[in-house]
Amino acid sequence: MKSLFYSRLFILLPWVLIVIIMIDIDTKRTSDRSTAYFYLSRLVNAQRQVRAPQTENNRTALPVIYAITPTYSRAVQKAELTRLSNTFRQVPRFHWIVVEDSNIRTELVSRFLAHSGLPYTHLHVLTPRRYKRSGMPRATEQRNAALDWLRTHHKPRDSGVVFFADDDNTYSLELFDEMRSTRQVSVWPVGLVGGRRYERPMVEKGRVVGWYTGWKADRPFAIDMAGFAVNLQVVLTNPRALFKRRGSLPGMQESDFLKQITEVGELEPKAHNCTRVLVWHTRTEKANLENEPRQTQDSVVIEV
Ligand SMILES: *[C@@H]1O[C@H](CO)[C@@H](O)[C@H](O)[C@H]1NC(C)=O
Ligand SMILES: *[C@@H]1O[C@H](CO)[C@@H](O)[C@H](O)[C@H]1NC(C)=O
Repeated sequence: MKSLFYSRLFILLPWVLIVIIMIDIDTKRTSDRSTAYFYLSRLVNAQRQVRAPQTENNRTALPVIYAITPTYSRAVQKAELTRLSNTFRQVPRFHWIVVEDSNIRTELVSRFLAHSGLPYTHLHVLTPRRYKRSGMPRATEQRNAALDWLRTHHKPRDSGVVFFADDDNTYSLELFDEMRSTRQVSVWPVGLVGGRRYERPMVEKGRVVGWYTGWKADRPFAIDMAGFAVNLQVVLTNPRALFKRRGSLPGMQESDFLKQITEVGELEPKAHNCTRVLVWHTRTEKANLENEPRQTQDSVVIEV
């Protein structure tokens, strides 16, 4: 009797073990599915799917973004350029056009750019003294010098997107993804501008119909310098489009520029039909140097 019991047990035991193992595997699977691990793996996959085609596999297919940054010598200059370059280094297929308001390329900016790790072009043009007054549009000559450079260094079929990136703004990386697909001229909201939290193009049925700005509301093209991008083709096929000093109302220089190359109805709204702010006029406070000694007492020369 006892031997019969044992022989039965030996026959059944492997089957019992197999059943136990199967149940164990199955519960592990379902528990995996219900834990954070499952969501995490989905998240990682989703990010890969989003990133891979654009930035890794197909980099060379992206049009180059040309950011035009006018700059001038001041205490915070290097700090501003550093902040900008830290952003721009994250942007694939990017070319920085830095234009100094100076009659030379300064050593500070030359050194800075050489170590920035970015592809760049370093230009300079001095603003005539008669234009250096408050209330005058700023950086006109510098922006036009950059447009000239683009026109003389590109063939008619080169692809690219041109964007005016002043050195006192803050840029979200998403902004560059948005502007990359600019066919003619694209527009988006700008934060902390004109004494308001934001200004933005008003969009109806996917088309720009005007501006939400307050005081400039009656003007169809009340756009900020940080609020648009232009396809390089448009810059090349409109060789005379420039920023004008004469005849531009204060704050309307960018609008006058755009009128030379496009119409309101053709503007391409970006940033979710212009409902998201991806660039801000942060404006660095003027540096307080009232305790700076007239003649440096330090034993070494330090660039700030
Ligand atoms: C790369 O980009 C080109 C042009 O945008 C497109 O035709 C091609 O399918 C893309 N290739 C991959 C692998 O995504
Ligand atoms: C923008 O609006 C158009 C028309 O209403 C719509 O078809 C499109 O999906 C919208 N785009 C985004 C990104 O919300």
